Amino acid sequence: MSTTPDPSAPILLFDSGVGGLTVLEALRAILPQAPVVYVADNAGLPYGSKTEAQIAARVCGLLGRLTERLAPRLVCIACNTASTIALGMVREVLEVPVVGTVPAIKPAAALTKTGVIGLLGTAATIRQEYVDRLEAAFAKGKTLLRYPAPQLVACAESKLRGKAPDRAVIAEAVEGLRRQPGGPAMDTLVLACTHFPLLEPELAEALGDGVRMVHGAEGIARRIAHLLEDQEFVRAEADEIIFTAHVEPGELASRLARYGLERMSVQCKG
Ligand code: DGL
Repeated sequence: MSTTPDPSAPILLFDSGVGGLTVLEALRAILPQAPVVYVADNAGLPYGSKTEAQIAARVCGLLGRLTERLAPRLVCIACNTASTIALGMVREVLEVPVVGTVPAIKPAAALTKTGVIGLLGTAATIRQEYVDRLEAAFAKGKTLLRYPAPQLVACAESKLRGKAPDRAVIAEAVEGLRRQPGGPAMDTLVLACTHFPLLEPELAEALGDGVRMVHGAEGIARRIAHLLEDQEFVRAEADEIIFTAHVEPGELASRLARYGLERMSVQCKG
């Protein structure tokens, strides 16, 4: 369906925390007039250390309730962990279009010259068959090195609260890729967690010259814009961010306001 009855119906962006802001930023660039509700399931953060069953149940349950309450025109799961595990299930239970975020292996495979691609994601993401399928479809004949970097999620969360990221943690994630067979030849790095582009300057410093980073935010924004291309948008009030557990507003509130999220609330506690 390409029309909507209510021009103020929001796009619902969902993540376990602030990672989805990287998708929001890309979305603002092409659909600045679109009303957005951002949901950060901080009561469930981090998703990356949970089981598939825990993530699927949590994401389907929350998005079911939120969609009923907020009546969004589209839901974007701005989280690789939730998307690689639960995208199919969420699509089955929701009636609105659902856009997921999956590791950008296809563009990375098109860019690499050495044929060695690194992939940083959560522990849950890197073990998914979804990633195996992307690798088989788009990176045949190339080397895909995967490494779990859960500490980077915490680093990105703290950075949004004004705390400088720990360089040793960033360096360790890069080393985890480089010390694998073929690692020194890596020239392309997939940021397979929406939190990680928030650390792009620090990652670039740790990587040094000659490694390009790739993530899916722009592609997802374009996909959303395409699905909503004939729709009207009216922002009736300032965009909101909903958390599922208490947060200290402080520095975070002013950073969120820079993304146009000027109202904060806690709902769906659990
Ligand atoms: N932002 C999420 C992702 O893209 C995961 C962070 C978490 O572990 O909750 O995978």
